[in-house]
Amino acid sequence: MTNSDVIIIGSGISALQLARHLQGHLNVMIITKNKMKDSNSYLAQGGIAAPIGTGDKVGLHARDTITAGCGHQLESVVKDAIRDGKRIVAELIREGAPFDRNDDGELSLGMEGAHSMARILHSGGDQTGKLMIDYLMEALNDKVRLVQGEMAFELLTNEKGRCTGVRTKCEDGSVRVHMATHVVLATGGAGAIYSISSNAPVVTGDGLALAFRAGAVLADMEFIQFHPTLLTVDQHGVGLVSEAVRGEGALLLNDAGERIMEGVHSQLELAPRHIVAEKINSERLAGREVFLDITPVKAFETKFPSITRMCEQHGISLAMGKIPVSPGCHFTMGGVVTDEYGRTSVKGLYAIGEVACTGLHGANRLASNSLLEGLVYGERLASYLKGVSEPGLPVEEIRYPRPACETPDIRFDPQELKERMMMDVGIIRSGHGLTRHMKWLKSQKLSFQANLERLSQKEIQSYLMWVVSTLITQAAFSRTESRGAHIRSDFPEENNVHWYKRTIGLLKDNHQLKVVHDEQHQIEIYA
Ligand code: SIN
Repeated sequence: MTNSDVIIIGSGISALQLARHLQGHLNVMIITKNKMKDSNSYLAQGGIAAPIGTGDKVGLHARDTITAGCGHQLESVVKDAIRDGKRIVAELIREGAPFDRNDDGELSLGMEGAHSMARILHSGGDQTGKLMIDYLMEALNDKVRLVQGEMAFELLTNEKGRCTGVRTKCEDGSVRVHMATHVVLATGGAGAIYSISSNAPVVTGDGLALAFRAGAVLADMEFIQFHPTLLTVDQHGVGLVSEAVRGEGALLLNDAGERIMEGVHSQLELAPRHIVAEKINSERLAGREVFLDITPVKAFETKFPSITRMCEQHGISLAMGKIPVSPGCHFTMGGVVTDEYGRTSVKGLYAIGEVACTGLHGANRLASNSLLEGLVYGERLASYLKGVSEPGLPVEEIRYPRPACETPDIRFDPQELKERMMMDVGIIRSGHGLTRHMKWLKSQKLSFQANLERLSQKEIQSYLMWVVSTLITQAAFSRTESRGAHIRSDFPEENNVHWYKRTIGLLKDNHQLKVVHDEQHQIEIYA
């Protein structure tokens, strides 16, 4: 058993930002189920959005964020996050973080979908995530303990309901217990539970399932963003082609050479993501291929080195000027409900980054707001924890009797779950498809109450995917309207009269999922 002041589960941008601000103040342990750099943050091609350009303002960036999110946000949350983000980005620039500059030495600010002006900072062209993670990791000192290859499978809570630690499964099958005064989920979203996804394969929603099983309130799980342009090889999306490519002038054409976004949205290729993804999807359903025409983009290979490499690896020649694309799962807007510091409804448990639902992203996240969110909430939680903690406080032991429950029998192939998610809970949903998927989930005869300690890492991951799949599907079924990334063919309109409310998922005492709708955005948060 180990003891820490703060355990951070996950190793993306929010985790590293938190750790670098806590080091030297509190004892920090980072636990990750694979390697430190296996995260969506590391893969991020798009950059960090911040209103730092001439004429840009917090209010303008907030307005774009709220428009992209279809108003399903709290305005104060959006404005505060962008204001803090602007300050943090300015600090990173002063510190010497590796942001790209133009030939005159000025920061080069890129354009992406649904932004009304160029405000995206990049590093190494399309390698922002990699360079930022390298930068933040270099800033960590050796006091931060890094535990790799251990999969968190259960949050520990004491008899007062406070989260006091986590149990992990090691690669050799053994179980370890890590106790802490504060436990932080920074595990990312659940994009890899879809068969076509831009996400790192490890991003299967573990933190969402762990929090739910520990009794935390989750919200808006139905809002899953599909990125319009994944490189498509043999009808299958294999990796992201950044929106920045369209920001640099690339056009979306079908195989008849028609510009598909004409007449669909005034921002054309740079319309909000769900609109572009839906249009590409409908072209493909009608039997037409869709391409990014990159001939208008100057110096493509220099601006987009990782996309160039990916195309080469898949035998796509850029000399033709055409990249075949189709949509794939990209981002989880909902998650564990938190306040402005990352506190959840379970005492001692915090959530930051994509696993959290803060009210910033709404029904559809604005491009390049997620790295910004990680930086903001990582820093905010650090200042909160420094204010409430003294180093070395003894953690409470787990004294409560563990409920007797059974080891689940995982019979399904996770690939089947991913394909079913894509088919029935994907870009376009319907009551019929959602019901079919719920029946399949039920047919697995699994329960939210389960003893996972005898399962392998792989089996635990499959079980947690089942939990998250259930949360997303139930939430999607209960929202009978279309809003942002949640598109229902049987309820095609946005309905502000009945649906200006969050979908809340919580675990009832009898271990059933309860889905309710919350108009007031009032969930009790415990410090
Ligand atoms: C992209 O580069 O298109 C993705 C950026 C993002 O999702 O924020």
